[in-house]
Amino acid sequence: MGRALLLCASLLAVASAWSGEVKKVGRVTYQCKCYSDNSCWPKAPAWAALNTTVDGALKVAVPPGAACHKKLGELSTYNEAECANVQANWVNEQFLTDHPIANLWPLYTNNTCLPNADPSTPCTLGFYGEYVIMATTKAHIKAGVIFARKNNLRLIIRNTGHDFMGRSTGFGSLIINTHSFKEATFFKKYTGPGKWSGSAATVGAGIQGRELYRKAFAQSPPVVVVGGECPTVGWAGGYIQGGGHGPLTTIYGMGADNVLSFDAITAKGEYVTANADENPDLFWALKGGGPSTFAVVTAITVKTFPEVPVAGTILNINATHTTDTAVFNEGFRIFHNLSNHYVDNGFFVYFELSLGRLHIAPFVAPNHNLSSLEKVLKPLHDQLKAAKIPYDSYSKAFPTFFEFYMDMFEDEQPNQNSVVGGRLFTQKDIAENGSGIADALLMASAPTANDFGFSVGHIVNPGHGTPVVDNAIHPKWRNASSFVITNVIMNGDESWAVKKQKEDVQTNIVGKALRAAGPDGATYVNEGDLYEPNWQTSYWGSNYPKLLQVRKKWDPEGVFYTQTTPGTEDWEVLDYGSKLCKKSSK
Ligand SMILES: Cc1cc2nc3c(=O)[nH]c(=O)nc-3n(C[C@H](O)[C@H](O)[C@H](O)COP(=O)(O)OP(=O)(O)OC[C@H]3O[C@@H](n4cnc5c(N)ncnc54)[C@H](O)[C@@H]3O)c2cc1C
Ligand SMILES: *[C@@H]1O[C@H](CO)[C@@H](O)[C@H](O)[C@H]1NC(C)=O
Ligand SMILES: *[C@@H]1O[C@H](CO)[C@@H](O)[C@H](O)[C@H]1NC(C)=O
Ligand SMILES: *[C@@H]1O[C@H](CO)[C@@H](O)[C@H](O)[C@H]1NC(C)=O
Ligand SMILES: *[C@@H]1O[C@H](CO)[C@@H](O)[C@H](O)[C@H]1NC(C)=O
Ligand SMILES: *[C@@H]1O[C@H](CO)[C@@H](O)[C@H](O)[C@H]1NC(C)=O
Ligand SMILES: *[C@@H]1O[C@H](CO)[C@@H](O)[C@H](O)[C@H]1NC(C)=O
Ligand SMILES: *[C@@H]1O[C@H](CO)[C@@H](O)[C@H](O)[C@H]1NC(C)=O
Repeated sequence: MGRALLLCASLLAVASAWSGEVKKVGRVTYQCKCYSDNSCWPKAPAWAALNTTVDGALKVAVPPGAACHKKLGELSTYNEAECANVQANWVNEQFLTDHPIANLWPLYTNNTCLPNADPSTPCTLGFYGEYVIMATTKAHIKAGVIFARKNNLRLIIRNTGHDFMGRSTGFGSLIINTHSFKEATFFKKYTGPGKWSGSAATVGAGIQGRELYRKAFAQSPPVVVVGGECPTVGWAGGYIQGGGHGPLTTIYGMGADNVLSFDAITAKGEYVTANADENPDLFWALKGGGPSTFAVVTAITVKTFPEVPVAGTILNINATHTTDTAVFNEGFRIFHNLSNHYVDNGFFVYFELSLGRLHIAPFVAPNHNLSSLEKVLKPLHDQLKAAKIPYDSYSKAFPTFFEFYMDMFEDEQPNQNSVVGGRLFTQKDIAENGSGIADALLMASAPTANDFGFSVGHIVNPGHGTPVVDNAIHPKWRNASSFVITNVIMNGDESWAVKKQKEDVQTNIVGKALRAAGPDGATYVNEGDLYEPNWQTSYWGSNYPKLLQVRKKWDPEGVFYTQTTPGTEDWEVLDYGSKLCKKSSK
């Protein structure tokens, strides 16, 4: 009887998952999610009931640029003061992350409602969603997940909107915004499951990088958490679920290596705890197995560590030093070729590379003072001088990581349009082909006669002296030396065909060269190419088969979706980036 009931329930679930439109593309049949032009789209009373369930937190999704246009569909949206505010804050990270649905890297919103000067120009939703739940309780998230599942809607979890690859936006979707989950509690001694009795913190899903660092520093004694480099990137959302590297990774491991427990909401809409004792498969997968794939995370308990003294160096080579390309390129080769040496000394290095400009800001040297830092950097200075490369640099030392971070890291500018890719180079590849790797990266600054690029590098090795944690991140991370993001620069207003062409440059010119230069390497789901060949093994290596199993168990119907995450093989976004559909088995 129980078994029969169960079977019945799963049949019903399947039936509801097929309520969308059927599309044929060539010989392939697709069943799509439900969209506003389909009869299966929930009627007004259903939305009103959802709004009641979420205590009035359901909002019509309005892109940030709408205030500068007369209308968004039937909605009058023009507001002179608000438009000026949006224009003034268009490159303000915090303003954008605080917005209900804004994306900081807007290419994947389709740029159809920018804050232009002329209010009579059209504004459409593009690839933004239709509705957003501004969740303030776990019950709001649960209600949103259940509503999306029952009505076969595209569901988007949006934390900060930072994702480079459009993962926090989706055409015609219901969005759940987790930004208000700002609670953080610190413990001197952790007593829960997992072999850890040191200090820890429970961190809400909406906490952002610098906010977490600040709270950790305010403890007595101050502590540190492994987090990212950017001040406004979320911590407990995409960052941890993708793996998470950061300035302290070389001494303390990846963000995901330090997680002790997750509080989450499953695709079925059930509250769940995942740690070493409870639901260990989900625990394993949430630690690096992919964002928005296994569950919605509401809070994470993580190890914290004592503060450490940190010294750092900022080094520049640019047009003020040399305009000779050969000289500049040799300077970059010398710098990057020493990656293994930096990480062997516990360093993390953040750098930006474009045509004729290298900005290393900074070298991060935890547990170092100025003299021990200079000792590690001596081969770099010696080699640059011997090769007659002009450059300049300065160093500073701080008693704590937090003071160092606030002083020596810079904010990045959002609202740039580019197609992203990247590669993780292992110690073996750096040792065997250091110059080849540097040349591939130099090429990425101008991959064709018509394209320019921009790269962001992270010299980091989470395997250096830290215990190896069994989790979902690509095992190659343990042997990493340099992880670099490459960007093919766009304006954002190009046609669909040009966009596809730029993606092709990223995958088949830049990506191809990176793969050839670093054959032992891997790629990173949070900062990678949406069209990475063999993305399953490239992003997760030998962990992929287990991730696929865990995904099928916890989200069999495909309530969650973001491109190139475990279990999404049968799903495709059709109709020029709009409707999400699943290949039918028939
Ligand atoms: C300027 C900049 C600097 C960066 N620096 C670093 C860095 O130092 N180290 C590093 O590892 N990465 C870094 N990243 C990449 C970063 O990890 C990813 O962009 C990550 O996806 C951001 O997560 P978010 O939750 O803030 O963003 P969002 O764009 O809101 O979400 C990203 C993805 O996570 C999903 N998601 C968000 N919250 C949840 C949740 N609670 N439950 C389930 N799924 C969720 C979303 O659905 C989406 O798929 C950086 C990115 C930028 C733009
Ligand atoms: C949801 O309810 C709130 C409060 O009553 C209201 O302000 C809001 O407009 C409603 N949302 C929608 C989409 O109608
Ligand atoms: C996306 O942008 C392209 C190119 O501007 C346009 O042709 C297409 O209609 C847009 N789609 C949506 C859903 O906005
Ligand atoms: C070039 O380097 C100098 C330091 O010598 C720095 O002040 C300047 O900002 C750099 N320029 C660019 C474009 O990075
Ligand atoms: C890179 O380092 C290797 C040793 O690891 C060395 O043989 C090679 O000459 C170096 N190349 C450059 C350009 O510094
Ligand atoms: C700097 O650190 C090194 C190595 O940790 C140590 O031997 C040295 O005494 C320190 N120097 C100063 C001035 O503190
Ligand atoms: C990492 O490197 C070590 C030694 O160099 C090697 O034994 C191990 O197989 C490598 N791991 C991976 C995943 O490549
Ligand atoms: C070294 O890198 C270059 C690309 O710059 C690549 O063509 C070559 O095959 C690589 N060599 C090895 C041994 O991996």
